[in-house]
Amino acid sequence: RLSRGLATEAASSRMPPYPKIVRNLEQVRKVLGSERALTLAEKILYAHLDNPEESLLSGTNNGRDIRGKANLKLKPDRVAMQDASAQMALLQFMSCGLPSTAVPASIHCDHMIVGERGADTDLPASIQGNAEVFDFLESAAKRYGIEFWPPGAGIIHQSVLENYAAPGLMMLGTDSHTPNGGGLGAIAIGVGGADAVDALVDAPWELKAPKILGVRLEGQLSGWASPKDIILHLAGKLTVRGGTGFVIEYHGPGVETLSCTGMATCCNMGAEVGATTSLFPFSPSMVPYLEATHRGHVAKAAAEIAASGPSNLLRADSSAEYDQLITINLSELEPHINGPFTPDLSVPLSRFAETVREKKWPETFGAGLIGSCTNSSYEDMTRAEDLVKQASAAGLKPKADFFITPGSEQIRATLDRDQTLSTFEQAGGIVLANACGPCIGQWKRTDDVPKGENNAIFTSYNRNFPGRNDGNRQTMNFLASPELVTALAYSGSTTFNPMTDSLTTPSGENFKFQPPKGFDLPSAGFEEGNPKFLPSAAVPDASQEVIVSPTSDRLALLEPFAPFPRGDLSGLQVLYKVKGQCTTDTISAAGPWLKYKGHLPNISANTLIGAVNAATGETNVAYDESGNQHSIPELAEQWKQRGIEWLVVAEDNYGEGSAREHAALQPRYLGGRVIVSKSFARIHETNLKKQGVVPLTFANREDYDRIDACDIVDTVGLYDVLQAGGQGEIQLRVTKKKTGESFLVPVQHTLSKDQSAFILAGSALNLLAKKANA
Ligand code: F3S
Repeated sequence: RLSRGLATEAASSRMPPYPKIVRNLEQVRKVLGSERALTLAEKILYAHLDNPEESLLSGTNNGRDIRGKANLKLKPDRVAMQDASAQMALLQFMSCGLPSTAVPASIHCDHMIVGERGADTDLPASIQGNAEVFDFLESAAKRYGIEFWPPGAGIIHQSVLENYAAPGLMMLGTDSHTPNGGGLGAIAIGVGGADAVDALVDAPWELKAPKILGVRLEGQLSGWASPKDIILHLAGKLTVRGGTGFVIEYHGPGVETLSCTGMATCCNMGAEVGATTSLFPFSPSMVPYLEATHRGHVAKAAAEIAASGPSNLLRADSSAEYDQLITINLSELEPHINGPFTPDLSVPLSRFAETVREKKWPETFGAGLIGSCTNSSYEDMTRAEDLVKQASAAGLKPKADFFITPGSEQIRATLDRDQTLSTFEQAGGIVLANACGPCIGQWKRTDDVPKGENNAIFTSYNRNFPGRNDGNRQTMNFLASPELVTALAYSGSTTFNPMTDSLTTPSGENFKFQPPKGFDLPSAGFEEGNPKFLPSAAVPDASQEVIVSPTSDRLALLEPFAPFPRGDLSGLQVLYKVKGQCTTDTISAAGPWLKYKGHLPNISANTLIGAVNAATGETNVAYDESGNQHSIPELAEQWKQRGIEWLVVAEDNYGEGSAREHAALQPRYLGGRVIVSKSFARIHETNLKKQGVVPLTFANREDYDRIDACDIVDTVGLYDVLQAGGQGEIQLRVTKKKTGESFLVPVQHTLSKDQSAFILAGSALNLLAKKANA
């Protein structure tokens, strides 16, 4: 295993390819004209274009209106994958038949670890329960030269921040909170497995050029206000959709007052407002953080670039313009509490007690949880520790259960050495494994809150959708800084304001918390921790067998999809006509199904189970040609066995929600060839094309009413359009099952040249495999 002192080879793989990135930026300047001012996000993104001229000029007014228009074809520097999503990413990568990944990559085992009684018991139990998945991931990592971080090593985003993120780097991660790396000035974007495979095989990864939302920070945080409050406040302003299609770019004098890990917290939760990613410019706190995490060589190289002139790679040009601008004065920022059930319901601490009473939210709460990928830095934990010490000195104990989730072994071992963890434990806190645990529903609550009962918890995590933490949809999760969660845990009351209210000590005296104080970085440096949690070396080994048991119900090797026939699709049957909303969760449900993410046949048994039947209003009830009733996946499977290919008819924004690629893979696996809807969510529409499913939209929305389940559909013109690289018109010939009447329905498509090639090949992966083996 690698030591954190790092072998030369690993140290060099952690160094972004700066000479190449800087050279590419010069090329971009040539294409756009040197007088054109660029934001930081634009610089880093455009400097990672495969072919700047092609991406920046085509489809735009000579490069003047890139944002929101241009189709960027990007070559990221690195990929990180978490254990749940890495399974399908690796299975897809394996089918390309390459000996190693084209860019450095890492796997982090964090999502499948339960949080219950503490790391010592939870970790071995979770490893045992998920052994076949971990064995598969580790063996694939060895075979293809991917750094493998075993269960217990840490949460993907904390490990990435400590080891890989760097100013000016561009990376993809198969997890929504990948933007955490923006705290170190990286463009880090969360994607699905098929997108990660693009980067792993050196194919350009496509992204619609994002708009840029500038957040100008002024002043300086003080007292109880923390970096978490910046993003909690911003989420309230922007709402959960306000960042969609944008990169959030922080700037202004306030940036220089923030710790590197605090900036990472802000970027992490940019995912909660739907932003493509978030990032900060190179700032003074990045240097000591990089040095403390054994990357002095990266700090030096970045500092040299930052000093190389006013228009350098690591900051925005002074006259750069933002599509939208928000200013936050840190000196006036109050702590905020967001929730329940949505991260954008933001209330300043001073108004929280009255809001609790007004809305009749519970006035007591059962648990406070701090840490996770969002808030487990040395600064976060030592500020929380300061409060625990104050309370312990007054003889107080937390009234609510108090859990601590360290983000990595490095941070855990350092906090252990510095006795922060023992301070928590002596106060009654439970230190969970270095993993996601309660943040992703892997929390076995022991405080006996019955399912369905209204109750409250406070966490310093990032998400608070119903059921997210303990599987109880009635648990109200309020998001706050770790400091606030800690102080509140001592009162057990949701109406307690530690800035103004007092607690009563066992001896009957009044106790009031003083504002928390902590340290950005440990004065004695970071500890390496248990060596068994260090990553494996990234050296491909062709003799390593990838371990997939043929009898496994959790993992199955992928069979390539068949290429498109030589001609139009004919005799498709309408499997289901969906009424109303159809999210990726409707198409591929999560919860217990997450277990089967690496087994396409098994997870396909959840296909469309949340979809409402437009004819009957029933959910997951489909009728075959003879009127017999089935669940949707059952009927799809029966038709697959009988060689009948099918399509789905749907309404607006089909596939909204996450980038979940299973929502495209599963219909394709079961014989789905076309989805025709009133409109699509953009990411899902792209995912469908990648898997060889053709997304079409009604030219006349009312044609939705003319097609019903079990009608027969032929495409007219589709094959010609695919052969012409996306040019031309398509219609559907519909033959009514009931009457035999036949008519044409005009439809629209957004097929590009590349996407037409995917579909002809059967899937993007088929095409990649063909190119890789050519
Ligand atoms: Fe894990 Fe929760 Fe972060 S699931 S990656 S700790 S958002």
